Amino acid sequence: MIDQIARDVQQQGWSFQQNVVDQLRLKDMAPLFDAEFNPAKVGKDTQRQRNEEIRGDWIKWLDPIHPPGILGPEMEFLRSLQNELNQRFYLGLQDFECHLAKYLSGSFYVKHSDRFEKDSSRSISFVFYLHQEWKESYGGELVIYNKNNEIVKTILPLPGSLIVFLSEDFPHEVKVCSEERRSLTGWMHTKILT
Ligand code: OGA
Ligand code: MN
Repeated sequence: MIDQIARDVQQQGWSFQQNVVDQLRLKDMAPLFDAEFNPAKVGKDTQRQRNEEIRGDWIKWLDPIHPPGILGPEMEFLRSLQNELNQRFYLGLQDFECHLAKYLSGSFYVKHSDRFEKDSSRSISFVFYLHQEWKESYGGELVIYNKNNEIVKTILPLPGSLIVFLSEDFPHEVKVCSEERRSLTGWMHTKILT
């Protein structure tokens, strides 16, 4: 699996994999989403504010030293993936950060880039979809664009699937969903995060 992701990233800049997290573990992860989440904000520093016309998700950052035990295999997977990407492409990835995210019914995230203008250390974006069920009629697709604003791929967030892409090369959006959409979302950086 990790090998396949690395090869896809090399060839096309992104990789989508299904059945990365099995149904049983998705069920065990469900209580993670009962915790208190914070409204995701947009903008940097003093400009940061809630704007549900841009993004309506709720997030909970994970403690990198003590992530929830149930996510141990995902953390291990991400470390292995980071090593594999470094060995193949000399990306110089040093660290990753992640948050849990939930989009309640009616929420979305308009087209954006994950790369901040003033901080170029975000290099790889990844999202594990952690709800237990998803139907096409629920919407919530992740639409990935290239730099010419052409659609590269529309991804239905199937339970247990994973998308990985180069943060700089693919603007993307989350379409409005009609059921609660849950994920573990994060970024690999070319610097140590403190
Ligand atoms: C993000 C994001 C995509 C997704 O949180 O920056 O683009 O599919 N998420 O949840
Ligand atoms: Mn994003």
